[in-house]
Amino acid sequence: MRTIYAFLLGIIMVFAIGCEKEKKVSNQLETNIEELLSKMTLEEKIGQLNLRGTSSRAKTLSEELKQKVREGKVGALLNVMNKEYVDELQRIAVEESPNKIPLIFSRDVIHGFKTIFPIPLGMAASWDEEVVKNSSRVAAIEASSYGIRWTFAPMLDIAKDARWGRIAESPGEDPYLASQLARAYVEGFQGDSLSDPTSLIACAKHFIGYGAAIGGRDYNTAIISKEQLHNTYLPPFESAFKAGAQTVMTSFNEVNGIPASGDKELLTNILRKQLKFDGFVVSDWNSVTEMIAHGYAEDEKQAAEKAINAGLNMEMTSKSYEDNAKELLKENKLSMNQIDNMVRDILRVKFRMGLFKTPYRNKNKDVEIYSSKHLELAKEAAIKSSVLLKNKNNVLPLNKKAKVLIVGPLANKPREQLGTWTFDGDKKYTITPVASFEKNNANFEFIEGLTYSRDTNKKYFKEVLSKASKADIVLFIGGEEAILSGEAHSRANINLPGAQEKLIGELAKIKKPVGVTIMAGRPITLQNIKNKVDAILMTWHPGTMGGDAIYDILFGVKEPKGRLPVTWPKVAGQLPLYYNHKNTGRPASPKEYVHIDSIPIGAWQSSLGNTSHYLDAGYEPEYPFGFGLGYTSFEYSNFKLSTTSLTEDNTIIASIDITNIGERTGEELVQLYIQDVAGNITRPVKELIGYKRISLKSKEKQKVTFEITVDDLKYYNNQLKYGVEKGKFNIWIGANSASKVKEEFVYE
Ligand code: GLC
Repeated sequence: MRTIYAFLLGIIMVFAIGCEKEKKVSNQLETNIEELLSKMTLEEKIGQLNLRGTSSRAKTLSEELKQKVREGKVGALLNVMNKEYVDELQRIAVEESPNKIPLIFSRDVIHGFKTIFPIPLGMAASWDEEVVKNSSRVAAIEASSYGIRWTFAPMLDIAKDARWGRIAESPGEDPYLASQLARAYVEGFQGDSLSDPTSLIACAKHFIGYGAAIGGRDYNTAIISKEQLHNTYLPPFESAFKAGAQTVMTSFNEVNGIPASGDKELLTNILRKQLKFDGFVVSDWNSVTEMIAHGYAEDEKQAAEKAINAGLNMEMTSKSYEDNAKELLKENKLSMNQIDNMVRDILRVKFRMGLFKTPYRNKNKDVEIYSSKHLELAKEAAIKSSVLLKNKNNVLPLNKKAKVLIVGPLANKPREQLGTWTFDGDKKYTITPVASFEKNNANFEFIEGLTYSRDTNKKYFKEVLSKASKADIVLFIGGEEAILSGEAHSRANINLPGAQEKLIGELAKIKKPVGVTIMAGRPITLQNIKNKVDAILMTWHPGTMGGDAIYDILFGVKEPKGRLPVTWPKVAGQLPLYYNHKNTGRPASPKEYVHIDSIPIGAWQSSLGNTSHYLDAGYEPEYPFGFGLGYTSFEYSNFKLSTTSLTEDNTIIASIDITNIGERTGEELVQLYIQDVAGNITRPVKELIGYKRISLKSKEKQKVTFEITVDDLKYYNNQLKYGVEKGKFNIWIGANSASKVKEEFVYE
């Protein structure tokens, strides 16, 4: 017994020493900040609040910028992509400025720096935290060798509307999945220590509700209830802060009438007081002065006043702080304490980054940009993010002997394949599908048919069809050019652009199997082609190694492992469309649904169907959230709950048997959903609360278990009370959100 006590005492001692050590480090950090702050002039303090942009293609280093740095009027720089310029500007800051405060160099390193990974919506389709963490670690290693130590990622905007161009950068529609990925991104970017020279401080963005832009139109108004804000939009940010994210970027949009950059409830009460965030907040590009256009500030001076009073530390690119802070202080519209606190947050992050000790970039010559390891990780990510949507008669995987005709505007486009936000990726390293087929000596021919995704010229159609008639199978590789998604690039119509649908339709008439691979920044409506083709593979914009990934999947070297992180609509008119919707008082159902074409002419004026659906598009998606096929099939059986009564003091073990009934080894992403049948506010019809990936050989069976606790059920109600009421719950385990494998339990 005494040994046990001694052991426990030892653990307590170690824990106590650890806490003491952490407290000491934190106290020392705060002491360093106070010492430095006490030496700074007001000009220098205001200087730290400025993030200045430069052109990443600048051929000279401006004397004006150097002078501003020398006078301590710049806290951080954006887009300085010339290593020598980085070194020179940092030298000026740490050797010539009044208090030698180092600069932070920043860049949008969103899904890779030089080695480009699939776009973030594709990375979300991997449902694989390790793949996401690896991608951001590779990006950090490559970017930090250029002096970049701050990335404006991860983008954590929950997105439910595929018309929105920036859904391409989002983690998808689900708060639980997005929260797992948020943690992985931050851990990958920041690494094991913020002071490691390869660490990039992360920037959780865009705070908040940018993805709720009405109509999916970028920068548009967002109206978000308090319970939606806390149950849907905040969780990924909370997860990022728990993982140690050091910065937050405000969003361009207003939320409920207040632009995010000027919203004190968001930036102080929620971010600082509720979520205990202790890094610093940066505006998005000119979003402070855009409050004038919003109609929230009369002029730049008032914009600065509102942003500073809201708690926004650093102003990106606009200059309202630099030009007005001093006067606002004189007019007592701001206090010196506010300015000091804003500067403290910035200095805290700079000290944590070790910049005062090691201000210069990681000049380790060993950093291999595009190393084989980095490229291999990018290929793995492209495979794991690719989603097989259709595979009629198992036309895939292809037989290597088959004579393949590759057609389409994205089959051999090294730049387009990289997708949005890839300024630094070099297209000459891209492996396109055509390049990969060539490298693997595949039995194929290639004819583009259309020269770019929006091409409407049919002049090559005849030649394409003639070649197709001589092939065993046609592979159409199309989708969207990179520029058709991303910032400011929302689309009202989200079908395949140009004459792609027409060409696919003509190919289908040749009566040869047709497989379609789509590279795009969003789900693409497929109504006009879906039933004409045999296979559909969604690779998003798959990045540098997309071609090798597509080759391996099409020939069965690897199976497609991706699952949809967003609901896939039939038509744009259904949007926003998401699985975790409310049930309404008149939920749609097959028996109630009346299709527009089945309404009798002269029908009596009645509320036909009486339920929440579209006469011409029903109420179901093309493909549900979580959907994706592999090259084998799985059977779910024997779904059991260890108890049907959950209390504060116990948990439920849900178990299910899964059998691989196909001929190939395969992976299954087993998903766990619940429904709170009746809450003191209405609750979603389904909510993802867990997922596990398993691999089974042909005919192998495995029992998969999940543990459910009361914490998995908690939510914020309209009074922002976090908890859960006693009552009935439904629970599903399945291969996607449309699973019908259901049990029930009660929380008592
Ligand atoms: C952009 C984007 C933001 C990006 C910033 C810097 O407008 O909204 O996501 O990080 O400017 O490039």
